[in-house]
Amino acid sequence: MVHRLILDTDVAMGAPGSDIDDGFAMALTVDVTDQQLELVTTVNGNIDVDTSTALALHLLDRLGRPDIPVVRGAARPLRRPLHDHPARDRVADVREHLTPLKPAPGRAATAIVDLVCANPGEITIVAIGPLTNVALALALEPDVATAVKEIIIMGGAFLRTTSMLAMPGEFNIWIDPEAAAIVLNSGAPLRFLGLDVTLQVELNRADADRLTATGRPFASYAGQCAHAWIDYLREAYPGREFCTAPMHDPLAVAVVSKPGLVTWRPARVEVEICSDITRGVTVADLLTSRNPPEPNCMVATEVDSVAFIEFFLNHVYSL
Ligand code: RIB
Ligand code: CA
Repeated sequence: MVHRLILDTDVAMGAPGSDIDDGFAMALTVDVTDQQLELVTTVNGNIDVDTSTALALHLLDRLGRPDIPVVRGAARPLRRPLHDHPARDRVADVREHLTPLKPAPGRAATAIVDLVCANPGEITIVAIGPLTNVALALALEPDVATAVKEIIIMGGAFLRTTSMLAMPGEFNIWIDPEAAAIVLNSGAPLRFLGLDVTLQVELNRADADRLTATGRPFASYAGQCAHAWIDYLREAYPGREFCTAPMHDPLAVAVVSKPGLVTWRPARVEVEICSDITRGVTVADLLTSRNPPEPNCMVATEVDSVAFIEFFLNHVYSL
């Protein structure tokens, strides 16, 4: 069975010191034979949306898939002020070094509504950035909630916290918690992969060296970006002694084809949008009480990290 996909992303791969996992997720979905990527929509998150759009176009070109349309999405969260993008000073001029490629016309929310509602029950949205575009699409056309096949989201933390007062919620949720609340209350079929499982799937420097050594158009470039990102993580979070790069977003892509990579549990999830102290914290009721609340999603609670990294690298090495 072919999975028809929209990838909603805050891709930043290529901007030194910015997160790389969206770029790897894009590469994986392009290469997995039972996934058909039909639309990429970009959103403000890891980097500003215009740079993300330019990088998305550049990466699809490097992957040999310039035919896949990229539509620019939200430049800012629904309500929250714009946040400082990681390593902003180092990425300011990244677009100057890219061949200018044009995105498809229009805006992400309408492109999502049009594709999902024209193909009821057919389209899966894989959301790997803040949920601003997905929320706007659901607000623009509530029928998206019943027309979409499902929405798979890299976001949240359900069995743990971030242990950071500066960002109490997982990044994608923390950036736009109001958008996450709209999605959680939309009635759409939702599956979440939170930090509980995504921090267990990691790319190490030896993997990055092997990628670089391939000399392949994407893999060698991605290997260099991986080293730069691990360097950035070590500098930005010295107390966490990073020596790998978590592959948050590629796991969300992988479970489209291999849902058994993780253990799923039904849950009732709510998100904090009032207090700044707990902004973006996702609270998951795992329905263990005598009168549990109605579930509104599935959350991943465990992952086979060895099986994932083998699946992931086997695809990416050849790109
Ligand atoms: O918390 C991890 C998420 O935030 C990933 O999607 C990463 O790309 C960043 O957007
Ligand atoms: Ca992302």
